[in-house]
Amino acid sequence: MGALRECIQTPYNNHMPKEEKQTMTGDQLISLLLTLKEDLLLVIEKKDATSDELHVQIFGKDSEFTKLASSIRFVKKEDKQRVGIVLNEVKEFLERHINELSAHETGMENDTWIDVTAPGIRPPEGHLHIVTEAIEEITQTFKKLGFTRVRHPEVDWDWYAFEALNMPKNHPARDEWETFFITYPGAPDPKETKYTKIVLTPHTSNGQVREMEKGILPIRMINIAKCYRRQIDVSHAPMFHQFEGLYIDKEVSIGHLKGVMDYFAANFFGKDRKTRIRPFHFQFTEPSFEIDISCGICHGKARLPDGQGCKLCKEGWLELGGAGMVHPNVLRAGGIDPDQYNGFAFGWGVERTAMMKAGTQLNDVRTPYENDVRFLQQF
Ligand code: PHE
Repeated sequence: MGALRECIQTPYNNHMPKEEKQTMTGDQLISLLLTLKEDLLLVIEKKDATSDELHVQIFGKDSEFTKLASSIRFVKKEDKQRVGIVLNEVKEFLERHINELSAHETGMENDTWIDVTAPGIRPPEGHLHIVTEAIEEITQTFKKLGFTRVRHPEVDWDWYAFEALNMPKNHPARDEWETFFITYPGAPDPKETKYTKIVLTPHTSNGQVREMEKGILPIRMINIAKCYRRQIDVSHAPMFHQFEGLYIDKEVSIGHLKGVMDYFAANFFGKDRKTRIRPFHFQFTEPSFEIDISCGICHGKARLPDGQGCKLCKEGWLELGGAGMVHPNVLRAGGIDPDQYNGFAFGWGVERTAMMKAGTQLNDVRTPYENDVRFLQQF
């Protein structure tokens, strides 16, 4: 108590109204509170008393602080709120300093020591979107075989998306690509130019003839791009990605195609994965195939070791996408002599391939684009 007396020089009581009817301004009381705050801080810092003693001295029933606090009743109504705020701040300030002293007494102030053996707190870390990751990995896998990633327009002439690919105007095969057409003013006369309609590319195959037009042979391209189709439901997203491979050289065979497919399967999906080719039809390849990959769960056996049927695949295989030997008409459209050169092409969905690798069976293919981190952070 002695220390407190010594330090508090300000005769607070002299300034305070003696009778209930008297009033004081908010500023007067605030100024007294702030002076008291400085005085009491000195008291605390002297460390002559323990934190418990200080608490009683400073906030006890007869303390200066309590007296000042109670004199808020003399303050004019409109000033009360302002004074109340300062009062609370001063109280918190003093309490904080007493608590620090208390921490010092119990040795807790060394809370800042570092236990170098304690596991760290990992800061949240983002990563690339699963589709971006897959694009990068697909690019790297084909790079090892000498394929270069290229980009071709995602909004292109209908000619590159269909006609150059052996699908003349009104050909029924076009129906398979539910295409978005872009209207634009002043569409040219079809008699004058082959570039008449504009589409959002429904597949990456428009890149085939565009690549041939560069006039550099042989071709080993991987064209990865966005594709658009006029279908939205659980198994169709209106925007998705495809990767298109094109290999044009002399004397290219189906064996080369199969070799590249197997290389991709083993390097992208895992050593034990194989591919098979099934006959199919595309206008722009002849012969055409569907490429399947052996199931990663049952390894092509369609049955699990316990005799149960595999739930992931049909008959031990999963469908990857289309492929085939480039049709001579397509080579001609790209200015390449089919008697000298030939080649193969394939075009698959990036999302589908990525999900197959992750082993995720999505019940809605639009999920990767909903930007739900709970989904995305799993990959
Ligand atoms: N473009 C075809 C599709 O979207 C896939 C494909 C590409 C087939 C190249 C053969 C060759 O289904």
